[in-house]
Amino acid sequence: MTENDFLPSSYQNSPEKGKVTWKAPSNIALVKYWGKRPVQIPANPSISFTLDSCATTTSVSFERKEKKDNFSFDLFFEGKSKDDFKPKIQTFLERIEKYLPFLKEYHFIIQTSNSFPHSSGIASSASGMAALSLCFMDIEKQLFPSMEENVFHAKASYLARLGSGSACRSIKGSLVQWGNHANIPDSSDLYGVEYPFGVNPVFKSYCDTILLVHKGQKQVSSTVGHQLMHGHPYAQNRFQQAFDNLDKLKPILASGDLEEFIKLVESEALTLHAMMMTSMPYFMLMKPDTLQIINKIWAYREATKTPVCFTLDAGANVHLLYPEDAKEKVLEFIKDTLAEHCENGQYIHDKVGEGAIKINT
Ligand code: PMV
Repeated sequence: MTENDFLPSSYQNSPEKGKVTWKAPSNIALVKYWGKRPVQIPANPSISFTLDSCATTTSVSFERKEKKDNFSFDLFFEGKSKDDFKPKIQTFLERIEKYLPFLKEYHFIIQTSNSFPHSSGIASSASGMAALSLCFMDIEKQLFPSMEENVFHAKASYLARLGSGSACRSIKGSLVQWGNHANIPDSSDLYGVEYPFGVNPVFKSYCDTILLVHKGQKQVSSTVGHQLMHGHPYAQNRFQQAFDNLDKLKPILASGDLEEFIKLVESEALTLHAMMMTSMPYFMLMKPDTLQIINKIWAYREATKTPVCFTLDAGANVHLLYPEDAKEKVLEFIKDTLAEHCENGQYIHDKVGEGAIKINT
């Protein structure tokens, strides 16, 4: 599909008012997206596990209004009016209006909440933008009921991408790939697709425990981080490596080769942070506890041969990835050895999920 497929057709219905609710999960990348061109076009392809319980639930109530010259919305986060989030939503609406021309025809009440604790350091932009995009697509579907399912999902992902790049991987599927790749059919820079190749069952129930090392504000936002890949001395090699890693991942995902999976995933995480440390200006998002956790994971894996590994997003928190059948042992390991490195001893258990769902209201 191209951008033109997401431009609206003439609408068939015009409801006066209504309410829609969607729950969209967060995701954790295995091959990382880091570097982009306008507007949110990734410099390299990426792939992520969709998470299950870390999610945002968003309701959008809509009511037709008289004046159609402006966007009009109220925003509530966890039940409280949230004016400081409004500029971000306003920018998002401006960006997507071309694709959803009904946006100025309604007043919206947006109510959103996260399943994970506020300020946990878990980025809510992916799940938040995905849930909001799905709500708007649901409204568009009421205006244009003959819209096909595949267009609905691809366009929801397309809109989410315009809100926050990696959000496009939080719509559909347990493994989602985003970014043109010659060897991945139907892959696109414009939206995420369900990974089209065979995936060993071990990855369908993979666990992710998020160790909350540092819950405060990040020193450098991912927006700035992406920008610093322009003129970065290692950028071209890094982008090529991501393309190559997607090729390498194909047989690994098909066979369930955990040894190779671990090598690739940990290398991706450390490369992401190496890019941050070698940009100009350079910065570091890992904390001493992040490194201590990594070293303990390596020592534990060596000693017990348990196939547990880590990945990182753009922050200090550590995502501990392991197969379900290792869960009991790994939970002990976390409690006894890793929890002491988490802020207030906090961590969140999650696992691979199936994508966003509509909640009937
Ligand atoms: O979607 P953004 O702009 O917040 O970028 C996310 C980048 C990483 O989380 C570091 C990697 C990824 O692919 O999710």
